Amino acid sequence: MSKSVELIRDRAGDAPVRLGLILGSGLGHLAAAVDGVSIPYADLPGFPHVGVSGHNPNLVIGDLEGCRVAVFGAREHYYENGNPAAMRPALETLQALGADMLIATNAAGSMRGDIRPGDLMLLSDHINFSGLNPLIGERTDARFVPMTAAHDPALRAGLRAAAEAEGIALTEGVYAWYSGPSFETPAEIRAIRTLGADAVGMSTVPEVILARFLGLRVAAISTITNMAAGLSDEQISHEHTKAMAPLGAAKLERILRRFLRQLR
Ligand code: HPA
Repeated sequence: MSKSVELIRDRAGDAPVRLGLILGSGLGHLAAAVDGVSIPYADLPGFPHVGVSGHNPNLVIGDLEGCRVAVFGAREHYYENGNPAAMRPALETLQALGADMLIATNAAGSMRGDIRPGDLMLLSDHINFSGLNPLIGERTDARFVPMTAAHDPALRAGLRAAAEAEGIALTEGVYAWYSGPSFETPAEIRAIRTLGADAVGMSTVPEVILARFLGLRVAAISTITNMAAGLSDEQISHEHTKAMAPLGAAKLERILRRFLRQLR
C-alpha cells in the first residue's frame, strides 16, 4: 500500500471511496460541500504541489449525498512543470481507496454560439491538441489504451439525467486540450473549431487518459467562463476565469448532488 493511501486511511477511515471528483479553476470551494476530512496535498507523497491561484490543494474524503467521495480540490496542469502525468499518483491513490469512477471538472472557453459563459458542457469526447500524452514512458502493453468510449456513456447518461431532473441545461460537446499557459490565438481557435472542437481548455485530457489506463470510468464537465479567443469582445484572462467559474459552480453542485443520490 502506498504511503498516501496509508495516511488517508489513518485520518479518514478505511471505508471504500466510490467516486473521485477533480475540481477545476474557480471551483475549489465545492470541496466544502463534503462532510469529511480534509488533507493537504503537501502531506500526501506523490500528490502535486499546485501553485495556480483559484485552486484549493486539499483532498477531502467524506460523504456527499450519502456517497463516499474523494474530492481533489486542485490539479497540476501540464503547463506548471511540463509533466502530463502529474496526476497519476493521485489517481492511483483514488483507485487504491476503492473508487472506480472519476468526474473531472474544468473551466473552458466556448466555440459554440449556443454554449455561453455561465453554461455547463458535458464532454462527449475530446481532442488532444497538445500532442502530449501522460503514458509516454509507460513500459507495459497497458499503455495502448482504447479511447473509443473514453468518456463513459453510462456515467454521461447519469449526469444528463441528473441535470434534466434539476432543470439545468447540460449540452454535450467536444473539448480540445491546449497546453497553455498562454491562451489561444484567434487563428488557433478557428483551427480547432474547424477540427470539431466545441470548447477549449488547459486540463482534463491527461486525467481522462490516465483514468482509462487505470480502468476508472470517467466523465468530465466544463464550466464555460468565456467565449474563446476572437469570438467576442471580452478580454480573456485568468482573473476573468476565476470570476466566472462560480456562475457554473452552483449548477454543477446541484447536478453532482442529484447524480450521487441516483447512485445510492
Ligand atoms: N482557453 C483555454 N483555457 C481556458 C479558457 C480559454 O478560453 N477559458 C478558461 N480556461
